[in-house]
Amino acid sequence: METKRWNIKNDKTYNHQAIEDAAERLKAGKTIAFPTETVYGLGADATNEAAVAKIFKAKGRPQDNPLIAHVATVEQLSRLVDDIPVYAVQLMEAFSPGPLTYILPNNGTCADNVTAGQTTIGVRIPDHPVAQALLERADVPVAAPSANLSGKPSPTLADHVWADLHGRIDGLLDGGPTGVGLESTVIDCTQEIPIILRPGGVTKEQLEEVVGTVMTDPGLANEKEKPKSPGMKYRHYSPEVPLWLVGGKPEHIQTIINKEKTRGNRLGILASERTAGLIQADEIISLGTDITEIAAHLYDGLRKFKQGDVDIIICEAFSEDGIGQAVMNRLKKAATEYIQ
Ligand code: TXA
Ligand code: MG
Repeated sequence: METKRWNIKNDKTYNHQAIEDAAERLKAGKTIAFPTETVYGLGADATNEAAVAKIFKAKGRPQDNPLIAHVATVEQLSRLVDDIPVYAVQLMEAFSPGPLTYILPNNGTCADNVTAGQTTIGVRIPDHPVAQALLERADVPVAAPSANLSGKPSPTLADHVWADLHGRIDGLLDGGPTGVGLESTVIDCTQEIPIILRPGGVTKEQLEEVVGTVMTDPGLANEKEKPKSPGMKYRHYSPEVPLWLVGGKPEHIQTIINKEKTRGNRLGILASERTAGLIQADEIISLGTDITEIAAHLYDGLRKFKQGDVDIIICEAFSEDGIGQAVMNRLKKAATEYIQ
């Protein structure tokens, strides 16, 4: 299949023929990748079962992993679900549009394969002008997982989508780099107290400021318990070469680098700007000065080291405060080793 690519990076009006064209294709049952404020999504009309099936096929996604339905407004969101609790309304007022996905009872408007056998559905209002314009024009809920091959890091640039999916999808709207760089926070809103199923762009601290106590799914931290979100049980975000997550001071990281060098291994390092300036290795990528920048550059960093360039990637472990919780969640899933 030929993948149409529209470049709208420099179009600040987003009132472009490209959006019109992409929306028409979505409505016709085709798959379109588009930027959101978190990562690129691979969209299809969520009410069209055959269109949704194309997403699973293109990504090689396990059939039991449900998709998030994207809409432009709270009003459209409420048409897909039943029983929105008061705290979810408060969260929507505070964080939507934005990087927060609500798990709510499904009312059956979307096709069955969107929810992959769950009685609930994930719904989100993305905060990106291209995503907003596309959803408005298409005027259907759009099922959209991250637009990567299953198992790979999520795409934060159109080139990442292209590398994984060209020839497998109908279109790609290139709106430049995404902002947050990590996926939305997924929050279960079917219980008395909201539960974080996947940490992401909205932090636990931010959620608690609005609704008080928020729990985190124990299945995320505890290897023995099954996560409540089907997607969280898979290994994920994996770069081409083994990734070691290493905690402690820069000297600790350097000791490990030196040991591996004597074994003849070539090392690629992902670290904060500060740590990157203190260590020596074959290849070093600075992810940024603070955790927000690190989150935004993480997936691109994971994709940059290719097989043949380095034998092992070492990534510095970061503090789990704020968006650090999401950064570390992704790194622990991507890593083959965690040396603390
Ligand atoms: O930021 C994001 O959320 C991006 C952009 C494109 O919106 N989308 C994204 O989708 O990350 P995906 O499919 O890669 O991840 C969705 C996660 C998966 O872990 C999935 O299992 C979980 O949300 N999920 C979806 N529906 C669910 C449900 N009904 N119950 C529990 N977990 C659900
Ligand atoms: Mg994904």
